[in-house]
Amino acid sequence: MTRKHNFSAGPAALPQSVLARAQEEMLDWHGKGLSIMEMSHRSQEFVSVAETAEQDLRDLLDIPANYKVLFLQGGATSQFGMVPMNLLRGAAAADYIDTGIWSGKAIEEASRYTQVGLVASSKDEHYTRVPAQAELKLNPAAAYVHYTSNETIGGLEFDYVPETGEVPLVVDMSSDILARPIDVSRYGLIYAGAQKNIGPAGLTVVIVRDDLIGNTLAGTPTMFDYQVHAAADSMNNTPPTFAWYMTGLVFKWLKEQGGVEGIARINARKAERLYGAIDGSDFYANPIAPANRSIMNVPFTLADSALDKLFLERAEAAGLLNLKGHRSVGGMRASIYNAVSEESVEALVAFMQEFERTAG
Ligand SMILES: Cc1ncc(COP(=O)(O)O)c(C=O)c1O
Repeated sequence: MTRKHNFSAGPAALPQSVLARAQEEMLDWHGKGLSIMEMSHRSQEFVSVAETAEQDLRDLLDIPANYKVLFLQGGATSQFGMVPMNLLRGAAAADYIDTGIWSGKAIEEASRYTQVGLVASSKDEHYTRVPAQAELKLNPAAAYVHYTSNETIGGLEFDYVPETGEVPLVVDMSSDILARPIDVSRYGLIYAGAQKNIGPAGLTVVIVRDDLIGNTLAGTPTMFDYQVHAAADSMNNTPPTFAWYMTGLVFKWLKEQGGVEGIARINARKAERLYGAIDGSDFYANPIAPANRSIMNVPFTLADSALDKLFLERAEAAGLLNLKGHRSVGGMRASIYNAVSEESVEALVAFMQEFERTAG
């Protein structure tokens, strides 16, 4: 068996040791004679898996005690609606920062529930930079301010945490959670789909300050109420047990890497290596302002787009998978999440240099 270099944007690469551990435990979890997938979510065994995963996440991100950690379903996309349903709390408006496709989707969904204030947008600059703090036109009466810390498709990442005063800050951290240390206390709510830096698809993590929940919009479905999930330890109904278990294994793996501080150093080296290769060549290009370049998703174009197809064919033949850019932007994109090793990035850089030499 040869594992390939996987640059998928999500569902994305998982640590090989995590997959191997899951394989070992697949038929007989801890001598119980059945797999974790076949157990009741209410069993003592699964509850301990679930609680350990939550504690490990709390340790990794140093989550304060007044924050609930929820393990939900429905993807980050459900959060686009759940955030306004839960956090409007009688206010007439919510503020949003527009930095690309994902924040745009969050804005579109929130507009169904409230008046959206567009605090700032870099649309006119094709989303090649993040609006600066001084550009944010914040409404002090807004229920919250929402932003997308890392635009997975555009490859654009905030290099600062917006300062919003008394107004709670909400962030879609789907594609850069756990990539580096954060100060959770700066946020009212953090959400992230699991399938990039957390674990397999099917799970969505929400970290929310407890004073913000319990006051939903009239008519909010029970399953969209954070308070319901918090009161039931995310087991109001059957949770995605296998994804939750796998996520727990990923958290243990992250701790072995030195936690988020350790992985952040590795991530910085990977990003530097790849952007360095792009900038060091006239053949490859990345349009994002250097300070806002994503350390997780690296889009790049070739000088001649007629070579895109050949690039992808040769890459695949060389064992480098999922480098095609998102259909909305074209070009290439290498997602280099936590589980993508430095060896994979080295292999990609070597391939890019060889391609430029022989086809460029
Ligand atoms: C930043 C961001 N937000 C939201 C989503 C949507 O996530 P999901 O597919 O889990 O609903 C994605 C998915 O790629 C994403 O990258």
